[in-house]
Formats: sequence, structure tokens, C-alpha cells
Amino acid sequence: MKITIAQAPQYVEKEVTIGAWLSNKRSSGKIAFLQLRDGTGFMQGVVVKSDVPEDVFSTSKNITQESSLYVTGKIVEDTRSDFGYEMQVSNVELIHEANDYPITPKEHGTEFLMDHRHLWLRSKKQHAVMKIRNEIIRSTYEYFNEEGFVKVDPPILTGSSAEGTTELFHTKYFDEEAYLSQSGQLYMEAAAMALGKVFSFGPTFRAEKSKTRRHLIEFWMIEPEMAFVEHEDSLKIQENYVSHIVQSVLTNCKLELSVLERDLSKLEKIKAPFPRISYDEAIDMLKEKGFDDIEWGEDFGAPHETAIAESYDMPVFITNYPKDIKAFYMKPDPNRSDVVLCADLIAPEGYGEIIGGSQRIDDLELMEQRYEEHGLTGPAYQWYLELRKYGSVPHSGFGLGLERTVAWLSGVEHVRETIPFPRLLNRLYP
Ligand code: 4AD
Ligand code: MG
Repeated sequence: MKITIAQAPQYVEKEVTIGAWLSNKRSSGKIAFLQLRDGTGFMQGVVVKSDVPEDVFSTSKNITQESSLYVTGKIVEDTRSDFGYEMQVSNVELIHEANDYPITPKEHGTEFLMDHRHLWLRSKKQHAVMKIRNEIIRSTYEYFNEEGFVKVDPPILTGSSAEGTTELFHTKYFDEEAYLSQSGQLYMEAAAMALGKVFSFGPTFRAEKSKTRRHLIEFWMIEPEMAFVEHEDSLKIQENYVSHIVQSVLTNCKLELSVLERDLSKLEKIKAPFPRISYDEAIDMLKEKGFDDIEWGEDFGAPHETAIAESYDMPVFITNYPKDIKAFYMKPDPNRSDVVLCADLIAPEGYGEIIGGSQRIDDLELMEQRYEEHGLTGPAYQWYLELRKYGSVPHSGFGLGLERTVAWLSGVEHVRETIPFPRLLNRLYP
């Protein structure tokens, strides 16, 4: 019977075969401990010399790291391991013998590991982070499907820029100039007018020359957009959505969180509603915390966000930023035209902004005025104006950065470990 490591708990006391790689090994004259991994999990195989034919024991003793093999044996409970099960091995069949695997069990530097990302992904920690990423994606679809959203896929190649023109990746589209998408938002607004509540999930690109632990050049965003939903209701959806993914990861990724030694008490608290402060209040708070140089009208950097987040054990919304530091499409606060109906959601523990969102301008004239101020001309933007000509409605949306969310929930320092093959400043390999 061929099974996977994940299925082992259902086969206690049964003889089974598992296709696996050897991640590590320890052996003496009489016994060999094989650390096996098969993609679904990690499990120990124990080979006792006196219980197996001589060639099986000698093969076991000599297998090199990352060789592939079929191991056969009986699954038994093992209370000493996190997984809780191990295999009493009766046979080992080598599929492919690996030579000199570069990532040995000793410590390696980050650049070395990044150069070997195609292999580094096999490690227990990276495996755990990828599983958490997958659970966030799974529970995202679950949440939005249950809430009646329709998944819509905006284009990657586009002629329009949603988030300013300085960070665009330019490419040729036959004879035209095109960009890689920075955000699907403008298209999602069109989709919301057709389907009501929609969400997208896809790659986005920013030619940002920032080398920080929160910035990737290529990252994945979840972008919901909702017709007839105003700013305040959008915040409620955001906090419910984030609570849902955190609780899903806690429920379905117990083993992974323990591999990563994540402090669960910090995540268990994350339940809606989340605290909200205005940009004005945030400025006051920063001044109190000793940031004397920050002035009203300036954008926050990572140290500011971290300082604000320190006052809360929940994600915190910072709302109503000055109009001049935010995107052209954000709706002004009807009570105060110098700020807009927007919010950034700042994760706890210094992981930074995980969501940016806003209510959108629905008035044609005001949008035309913004076009002028921002120099948005030509057919690439004309269609977006038309959404304000034919049955314009109040609508809101937001974008959640997947990698920063993975970093936060996994407790990993840097976003480079939260995506299989990170695109960073000066790194396009592997
Ligand atoms: O705040 P941003 O730029 O918002 C938008 O793009 C909106 N159009 C979204 C919308 O309303 N539909 O980006 C949204 C989120 C950020 O909060 C952050 O989590 C993530 O995307 N993000 C990045 N993640 C990694 N690397 C980068 N360079 C990122 N830039 C933004
Ligand atoms: Mg933002």
C-alpha cells in the first residue's frame, strides 16, 4: 500500500510504502534514524540492523542527503516527535542517489540560501511557511465565496497605472507602450459594476528601488471591490476577513506554526473589531512617542508604522489620510476636503501595512478634476471615467498584500521567505 506521510496517522500498525527524500540521517552500528520528507510532511524512519536483511541496513547507512527512495515498514505512534508517528522500516529501495547536496544541516548565510532557493524550499521551515501561505489563500477563497463575492481576474498587461507612474515596469505591447499591473483595482471597479461584489487574486509588480524586509518587486495581492458599500462597511469586511484568515491558520496549521516556533498567544487574540485611529491622531501619537520631525501632510515610513502598532495587540486601522499623499481615485471626506475616506491596516509586531483601501470617487466631475491634477489622459484612462457616467454608485475596495500577511502569521522576519521565488532589488535568480 503506497501512502503519503500525511496519511500515516490512518495506518498505525499497518505495513505501508512511502516515496520520500532523505532530509537528514543519524546512524550507529546497530540502528539508523532516517529523517524522511515527502512534501506532505516530515517523519522519522527507524532501521534496526537485527530486524532487516544486511543489504537494507547497509543501504540505509550509506544514503546521501536528498536521495530519493521508497521506504516500506510499519507505522507506529511516537510521542517524542511533533508529528506523533514514525516508521519501523523493513525495506529501503533507492530511486536516485543524490550527490553532495549544497544545503547541509549546518547553518548557511542568507545570500547562499537565496542562490539555492530552488533547493532551500525543501527545508522544514520553508515548507511550513509555504503551507501557511497556502492556507491563507484557501481561507481567502472560502471567506469571499461564503460572503457572495465573485472571483474576477484583471489583466496583468495594462496601459493604465493605478498607483502612480514612478514604479511602473514598462514593456512593449507590439507597437504600444504597456506596463505590468501594479494593482487590478481600476478593472475591479468595472467588474463590481457588473457583478456587485468581486475579488481578485494575482501577481502585481512595483519597480520600487526599496530594499527593506517588507518590499518585493513582484508580490501577490487580494483585491476585493464592492458596489453600494461605503468606507465604514468596507472596514468591517476587512477586519472580518483578516480575523477569518488568522483563525483558519491557527486551526489548520498547528504543526507548521510549531515548526516556526510562532508565539500563538499573539495570534489567538486577533478577532474583529480592530482599533481605528485617524491620521491626525496618529500624528499626535507619533509626536508623543518622540518623532519630533514628522509633520501633518507627510507619509508614514516603517518606523512610524511600527511605533503606532506597538500600542496595540491587534491590527490597527489608520484612517483619513491627507488627500495629497494618497491615490487619485480616493473619495474626499464629505466633512473635510483635505483628507480622504481611506484606511491602511497595520499589522502588529512590526510587520507593517498589510492592507490599503478606500472608498472611491463616484462623481464624474470630481474624477475629471483629479485626472487633470494628475495628468491622466488618453484612452488608457477614458474607460474608467465611463464607470462614473452610467449608473455611478458609492463603492469601496481594498488590497491585502499576501506576502506581508504570510510574514506576520508565520513570524518570519523578511518577505523574501514568504514567496516561492522572490523577486527583489538585484535578484532575478533562481
Ligand atoms: O497600498 P497599496 O499600494 O494599494 C493598492 O494597490 C490599492 N490599489 C489596493 C486596492 O484598493 N484595491 O497596496 C496594497 C497592499 C499593501 O498594503 C501591502 O500589503 C502590499 O499591497 N504591498 C506590497 N507588498 C510587498 N511588496 C511591495 N512592494 C508592496 N507594495 C504594496
Ligand atoms: Mg498603501
